[in-house]
Order: sequence, then C-alpha cells, then structure tokens
Amino acid sequence: MMLVRRWRQHLWEKIGCRNILEVGVGTGQNIPHYSEDLKVTAVDSNPNALKIASERAERHDVDVRLIYGDISEVDFEQNHYDAAVSTFVLCQLSNPHTALQNILGALKPGAALYMLEQTTSTDPAARILTSLCRPLYWATGSKIPQDLTDQVSSAGFAIVEKYPVFARGAVVVVSAQKPFE
Ligand SMILES: C[S@@+](CC[C@H](N)C(=O)[O-])C[C@H]1O[C@@H](n2cnc3c(N)ncnc32)[C@H](O)[C@@H]1O
Repeated sequence: MMLVRRWRQHLWEKIGCRNILEVGVGTGQNIPHYSEDLKVTAVDSNPNALKIASERAERHDVDVRLIYGDISEVDFEQNHYDAAVSTFVLCQLSNPHTALQNILGALKPGAALYMLEQTTSTDPAARILTSLCRPLYWATGSKIPQDLTDQVSSAGFAIVEKYPVFARGAVVVVSAQKPFE
C-alpha cells in the first residue's frame, strides 16, 4: 500500500495546473494527494464508491465536485480542463476508446492526461504472475491493456512519456497531450 501511495504522490506532483478532471475516482484514494490549489471535477460510475469519496473529500477539505456517470457518456464542458488524471481505470473500461475521446474533448488544447495504470510487464516472472491472476481480472471485469499507449494515441492524444514504476511495466506512468489544433 505504501508503494501505491508513493506512485500516486509521484503522479500528482507532476501536475502543475489548477482545473483538473479525475476520471474513475473510485473511493477517492487520490484525494489525499490533491494539493490545496487544485479544483477537481471527479467522475465515477459507482455510487457507493462516490459516497466514500465524498466522505474522504470532507475529511481532507479539498475542492472537488463529484459526478456520478460513465466517462464515455458524461457531457463534459469542452476544451475546459487543464489536465486529466486516471489511476487504475483503463483496465476496467468497457469502451476505452470512447472514454478516452470524451476525455480528450474535455481538455484544453495542449493539456495533458496523466495516467498510472496496469499494463503487461516485459519481465517474464511478472508476466507469469499476471497470467495466474487473469481469472481474478475476468471475474472483476478488468482487462490488463497490452497496448496502453496505442489505445491512448488512437483516441487522438500525443504520447509525451511512458515509464515503468513497478515490475518492468506491470504498472506504468503515461503522460499524453491533447494536440493544439
Ligand atoms: C480500480 S478502480 C480505481 C479507482 C481509483 N482511480 C483509484 O486509483 O483507486 C476503477 C474505478 O473506475 C470506475 N469505472 C469503471 N468504468 C467506468 C466508467 N465507464 N465510467 C466511470 N467510472 C468507471 C469504477 O467504478 C472504479 O471506481
């Protein structure tokens, strides 16, 4: 858990702007990492998770607006956000392409999507472990993306960086930019 907290902290430290969209906020594990100058709009399709996120937001006294909805369908204000954040969400999306395109539309031109996501490691031992866990992923409706950066770029983003933070790519940080027109 300490390790995951460190990855989250690392990701949020990259964000130097104010008006943020967090997609798939879940129970709000990232909320303790919001800096006090951030204004966050956070979306999730699980109302029970959002309730916990709301309680956490109150405890941490952060400026966050929680929205119930599907990332692919929420009618976000267009060209509005300075950055978007997604942590451990892509593997759960039933239609990642549409979701990513919707996020793209919500970002200002030049704004970035910062992701902390599971993907397929290049390490043989980690790959074996991932295959052993596959039934668990299936049971929870998750799919580990093998082609995360392809998915992100095919939605219209330009990949800025991708680097592993765990087990040679079992968990990666990806930053991608919405192109200027
Ligand atoms: C593994 S959890 C990660 C939660 C949080 N980002 C974190 O790092 O702890 C994935 C979250 O994505 C949400 N989710 C999955 N598909 C979604 C969709 N289409 N629209 C909105 N939220 C979605 C789930 O409800 C869940 O809360």
